[in-house]
Amino acid sequence: MPRTPDRVARGQYLTEELLQCFVCHSERDWTKPGAPPIPATKGVGAVWLGKPWLVAANVTPTNETGIGRWTDDMLLRAIREGIGYDGRMLHPQMGYSSFRALPDDDAEAVVAYLRSLKPIRRSLPQTKIPEDESKDLDVPELLMAPVPLVTPHDVAQKAGTWLFSPTARATTLPDTRRRTQACSAVKTWSLAVSVRRPALT
Ligand code: HEC
Repeated sequence: MPRTPDRVARGQYLTEELLQCFVCHSERDWTKPGAPPIPATKGVGAVWLGKPWLVAANVTPTNETGIGRWTDDMLLRAIREGIGYDGRMLHPQMGYSSFRALPDDDAEAVVAYLRSLKPIRRSLPQTKIPEDESKDLDVPELLMAPVPLVTPHDVAQKAGTWLFSPTARATTLPDTRRRTQACSAVKTWSLAVSVRRPALT
């Protein structure tokens, strides 16, 4: 996909500000409030604190240890559908159940930005989800159609339909987990919508 300056800038904004990819995919400075990602380690990945078997991969564009050999589709699939490089189901700490709401344009901007990062070789261990955790994981839902850009009008309409239709509520929210997912998806949409215009100017 074309890596235009506008697309990379949009991708940087989404990746670093809105979606906070580097909070998990970098080393962090625990001496500072909020433990921000250390700039020089942006995207190099990290072992999950307290779960040494869970590893947020190196997403800088090196061929050997990062995303250099991934196709754009593979990256989009990992980000929005939770399927990893090797076809494995990713651990839900990688927030694909929220990221699936990202419109195609925005998801592609994130990929364009990741490809523009400085390639930093850093090999990390592979995630190895323990048996007792892996049997409880939900199979990620695949995206069967393009995800269009959502306008504030669409969001209002969706929320309205949902609020005023008991049937919609009953069928879309059968349990607490789905409810949490629905809320975070709506949150991602509304954030994306509310900040979209200023970011483009
Ligand atoms: C809350 C923490 C967190 C955030 C935020 C996060 N990730 Fe992840 N990510 C992870 C973890 C943990 C894994 C490893 C999952 C596994 O291996 O099962 C992962 C895996 C991945 C993978 C797949 C690597 C592979 O081996 O297949 C990619 C690509 C990725 N993340 C990119 C991103 C991008 C891009 C963003 C921002 C849009 C992002 N991540 C945001 C935690 C996070």
